[in-house]
Amino acid sequence: MLAGKHILLIIGGGIAAFKTLELIRRLRERGAEVTPVLTAAGAQFVTPLSVSALAGKTVFQDLFDLNDEAEMGHIQLSRVADLVVVAPATADLMAKMAQGLANDLASTLLLATDTPVLLAPAMNVRMWQHPATQRNLATLRADGIATVGPNDGDMACGEFGPGRMAEPMEIVTEIAARLTDGPLRGKRILVTSGPTHEPIDPVRYIANRSSGAQGAALGQALAALGAEVVFVTGPADVPPPQGVNVVRVETAQQMLDAVQAALPADAAVFAAAVADWRVSSASDRKLKKSKDGLPELTFAENPDILKTVSRMEQGRPGLVVGFAAETDDVIDNATAKRRRKGCDWIVANDVSPATGIMGGTENAVILISDEGAETWDRAGKDVVARKLAARIAQALG
Ligand code: CTP
Repeated sequence: MLAGKHILLIIGGGIAAFKTLELIRRLRERGAEVTPVLTAAGAQFVTPLSVSALAGKTVFQDLFDLNDEAEMGHIQLSRVADLVVVAPATADLMAKMAQGLANDLASTLLLATDTPVLLAPAMNVRMWQHPATQRNLATLRADGIATVGPNDGDMACGEFGPGRMAEPMEIVTEIAARLTDGPLRGKRILVTSGPTHEPIDPVRYIANRSSGAQGAALGQALAALGAEVVFVTGPADVPPPQGVNVVRVETAQQMLDAVQAALPADAAVFAAAVADWRVSSASDRKLKKSKDGLPELTFAENPDILKTVSRMEQGRPGLVVGFAAETDDVIDNATAKRRRKGCDWIVANDVSPATGIMGGTENAVILISDEGAETWDRAGKDVVARKLAARIAQALG
């Protein structure tokens, strides 16, 4: 699947570098040629010998190595590949890239390259969440640099949270999506998915029956066509797709913030079942049965994310797609919803309990656009997702 593709792999200095050895194997198994570059810090975690043995090539380490310069100058090295992958991308490497520093081989290659760059960040959770790293990340994304991960989980330093490098196979999937000549290659697409949870108190929340299955299938289908997918998901039952940038949120407000942070995008698809209301009287301590009697919940309206993005005056994605969950008068309600929200397409579905669609594996949708309403046959959510992804590819053409 990666036969004939050439990857320049920069290995930064982090404990996750051991996973990069596995990444090299997986890439080579799929036919890719891997040219490794090891930073000085990276060499503290994995040896040049293991890297070059697995890559089947010399590992480049030094900016001023005369042999390397004689055989292949650093500018040429930066241009040989179809994709530059940085794994692990440390906070330090990201900061250098965001600033345009070039004081060692890795940072010089990253500044000199005209090839797309994919980062697999890995660092301590506090370092990842630090405003400086988040600022650098935003700068790099605005420069067109893609990321995979980091994932949530236990970290080598004993803490828990986002900062773990994506697993080698997730990175492979992302690389394959980028190097596959799909019709959505070079397009950035935002997808929202899953339900939102709106807290009542620290242990209770209001939710809905969305499993996130349709959104996940769509994210997967778009990635398979080569899109760079930013997948903003509430607490869903199904795992997020592989090879997409996953942003996890809980509430509608957090989802809106994540969506705004992820823009600009070529298209945005809002498959999330966002709670229309939040509990304005949410308590920061657990409501007690004995003392408080029956709780009086008051509600406030949540921001409408689809409407907010559809009506953006600047930076609106070229194609905005909403979903409409209806239980009656599906076409009329969904047509009115499309006008009210200002989106380009509405994917309407009947979520009456008898249909078994909400939380089920199948979907029966009606696509509503300028051209009217088009009814699709009932099919698996993955089939519907592939059909919708193909339509999106056609529209972004
Ligand atoms: N949506 C959103 N933000 C909200 C509510 C909905 O982005 N606060 C999006 C959903 O992701 C979906 C579309 O709007 O793409 C329609 O969602 P739906 O729940 O069907 O519509 P509502 O706006 O809740 O309208 P109504 O309650 O009248 O059915």
